[in-house]
Amino acid sequence: MKRKLYIGGIKLLKILDVNMNYLKNPVGIVKMPQFGWILESDKKNVVQKTYQLEIAEDDIFSNSVYDSGIVKSDESAHIQVTDMRLESIRKYYVRVKVSDNYEEESGWSETAYFVTALLQNEWEGEFISAEAEEDRNLSKGTYVRKEFTLNNKIQSAYLCATALGLYNVYLNGKKVGRDELTPGWTSYNKHLLYQTYDVTSYLKEGGNAIGAMLGAGWYKGKMGFEPRRNIYGDWTAFLGQLLITYEDGTSQTVITDSSWKGADAPVVFAEIYDGEIYDANLEIPGWNEAGHGDANWRSVETILCDKKILTPQSGCTVKMVEEFPAKAIFQTPEGDTVIDFGQNMAGWIHFKAKGETGDRVELNCFEILDAKGNVYLDNLRTAKQTIQYTFKDSSPTEYHPHFTFQGFRYAKIAAFPGTPKLENFTAYAVHSDMQRTGFFECSNPEVNQLQHNILWGLNSNFVDIPTDCPQRDERLGWTGDAQIFSRTASYLMNTYTFFSKWLVDVEADQTEDGGVAHVVPDILTGEMDDNWLLTQGTHSAAAWADAAVIVPWVLYQTYGDKVVLEKQFDSMKKWIEFMRKNSKDYIWNYKLQFGDWVALDAEEGSYFGATPNDLTCTAYFAYVTGLFAKICNVLGKAEESKIYAELYENIVQKYQAEFFDQQGNLTAQTQTAHIMTLYFGLTPEKYKSKITHSLLELLKKENNHLVTGFVGTPYFCHALSQNGCTKEAYDLLLKDDFPSWLYQVKMGATTIWEHWDGIKPDGAMWSADMNSFNHYAYGAIGEWLYRVAVGLEIDEEKPGYKNIIIQPHISDNLSYVKGEYTSVYGLIQSKWESEGNNVTLTVSIPVNATASINLSQAKEIQVDSGLTFKYVNGELCAHTGSGTYTIKYTL
Ligand code: BGC
Repeated sequence: MKRKLYIGGIKLLKILDVNMNYLKNPVGIVKMPQFGWILESDKKNVVQKTYQLEIAEDDIFSNSVYDSGIVKSDESAHIQVTDMRLESIRKYYVRVKVSDNYEEESGWSETAYFVTALLQNEWEGEFISAEAEEDRNLSKGTYVRKEFTLNNKIQSAYLCATALGLYNVYLNGKKVGRDELTPGWTSYNKHLLYQTYDVTSYLKEGGNAIGAMLGAGWYKGKMGFEPRRNIYGDWTAFLGQLLITYEDGTSQTVITDSSWKGADAPVVFAEIYDGEIYDANLEIPGWNEAGHGDANWRSVETILCDKKILTPQSGCTVKMVEEFPAKAIFQTPEGDTVIDFGQNMAGWIHFKAKGETGDRVELNCFEILDAKGNVYLDNLRTAKQTIQYTFKDSSPTEYHPHFTFQGFRYAKIAAFPGTPKLENFTAYAVHSDMQRTGFFECSNPEVNQLQHNILWGLNSNFVDIPTDCPQRDERLGWTGDAQIFSRTASYLMNTYTFFSKWLVDVEADQTEDGGVAHVVPDILTGEMDDNWLLTQGTHSAAAWADAAVIVPWVLYQTYGDKVVLEKQFDSMKKWIEFMRKNSKDYIWNYKLQFGDWVALDAEEGSYFGATPNDLTCTAYFAYVTGLFAKICNVLGKAEESKIYAELYENIVQKYQAEFFDQQGNLTAQTQTAHIMTLYFGLTPEKYKSKITHSLLELLKKENNHLVTGFVGTPYFCHALSQNGCTKEAYDLLLKDDFPSWLYQVKMGATTIWEHWDGIKPDGAMWSADMNSFNHYAYGAIGEWLYRVAVGLEIDEEKPGYKNIIIQPHISDNLSYVKGEYTSVYGLIQSKWESEGNNVTLTVSIPVNATASINLSQAKEIQVDSGLTFKYVNGELCAHTGSGTYTIKYTL
């Protein structure tokens, strides 16, 4: 973040950042975005008093199209503009000015902008394909191209583009934009994204050329663990519309139609799981440049596709985000040559090499070495993850794949001309490009590595959709994994656009009666007749399907954004009603359940943890119904809120009657049953300490180790710290022998594993059948690190960090913990340091936000930084506005 200090009495109230839909300068907007801005001041307790928002069609605001006038408001996020009409393919400039409670006025903000897409889906062209009948079941790359002349001085040009399959588009030989794997993965039959690019600088007066390269991708390549291909269609095809506006006000449009020409591309094969084969001998030099001539190219076919499904994407596209130079090249005991990039990731390898005609590079990407230090490919199952490149001549070459990605830290060099050197290889992490919002650090380096692994679990599995893993023949949008990790993810990154996009498909893929698919986009329903597990059901599993309510709730909590709740309202309600209809006397269970997936209390070799499904299902039924009642309330739907609050009460009563015995013990003696019952608020007040005690006993039985799976793990530390056992929660976090979070760290993990026993202490691996070393689900401990260890908590009543709850939890075993989070109001920071019983806490609260500082462990305040601490419910608490405060207290 840019921070400028204005000395000399100029402007002390300043607007740092204007955003739209929580993004900077979005391109591809079809509805008026929500506006927000971040403020900075040299004073404390600063609140915005008024704002003025102006929108214009030029950057000097001489052609203003909207002026809010001076609006009295303390809201600097979620600003809606209703009385202005947008036009298609237009750039709108935005600026904001504010005043505060010190009567200080800011200057105008730096000018921000947004660009609209095709508001009425006014597509003029057709999808065009260069594939022939014999290509139906192939996954090869093709080119389409067109030349055109521009006879006037260009003022601006925008390109809208998408594909059935994946595309890279070029203008005059240059790749347009930095996006990869476009148009991303959606439930293609129901909605397909298109991208919008400002391409003014790519064009020139005179002859120009546009070309696109197409690949099979998720659309028609092999997908799913019972591999199917052509899931969405048989032909890759490109749709583009280029709108050029001339300085004299006239315009010209170039569209995809049957006048375009097609050819095979040098990408001989590319699929998501298997990798890419590229033969440079098949390159067509200059194919995407003007004057190339395409007399010997073939005609393209137009492909029918309902353009109503087209939706613009305005951000959070996949990019090559980070680069990792090769760290080591070594020989394995079995004699393979292997590159180590030092970090497990989703992405691809870029290489620079020089060979002779016909020489090859072949790289087999993989995650982990086996116990003997040899290449381990078994856990990839059928995914080949192989890159093959054939040289056409001896000129130096650089290459990375186009229409695939690999989950890897290592690559076996199966072929290479000459001796491979470190400088030949760079790995690129390829994933959805989101703004980093959260940082965490503490005095324990292993916990810091855990935090790093959580971040890389996120980076590797946010590849346009939230996936379970990035390496094996799966990489699907498992709803449970996404739900479990959504809150942690939303500390680390600005996830608003990413999750909002995915939620559209959660709804689109719901069954008519409201069931929620196990994976979104749903490629399992109707396809799993021969899968041993999924024949039992492809939708509506507890903790998985509940993503439909929990993810919107997390976004509302994190951004204070009601729009997402409004958009998802029908979907959420349908899901709750589905459970209600399929429950018997408030006990809910349904067909295939994953339960406490991969818990260690499962029977040997089984994936299903010991917690009974009736209990897990009903606990989640209660939890999300409770959330939904709150959501109805937030949206002002009082009647519905009452109905669902009642339903919630009935489920809770039934849960308590069914799953507690007469003495107040849970009938299911598993850690997870206790965790859910505590965290979801299902424990009668009088039994709270008993259930907490039982959980501690169950921990003791396992020598103080967790044996929980996907359902219990995320809330384990919360269940303890919310019930007076913060010390035990820290003890659990800091365990480093098997099974524990830090055990993986000790074993050298750079991402989070799918199984606690992915690699067992004796070096043996869990069955290759399902053993990912890059699964973010257990990384959900991340939210506890932020919410409890640092103590940056959301106030449900004033979400979006409008009021921040600062509630640090001090541990004897750590000397400091610090964290920061860039909220919609700006940067929040909190750090505690302790020495013996003395704690120093430093917090920074952004302008226009407030904080409640709750020091549950404090005995005496020694330095209050001007704040007034009072006892509330036995805790020393203070309330404050913006500014930086250092507080010293004793424990
Ligand atoms: C995935 C999980 C997923 C699960 C369903 C697995 O194959 O990798 O992460 O949630 O299936 O139980």
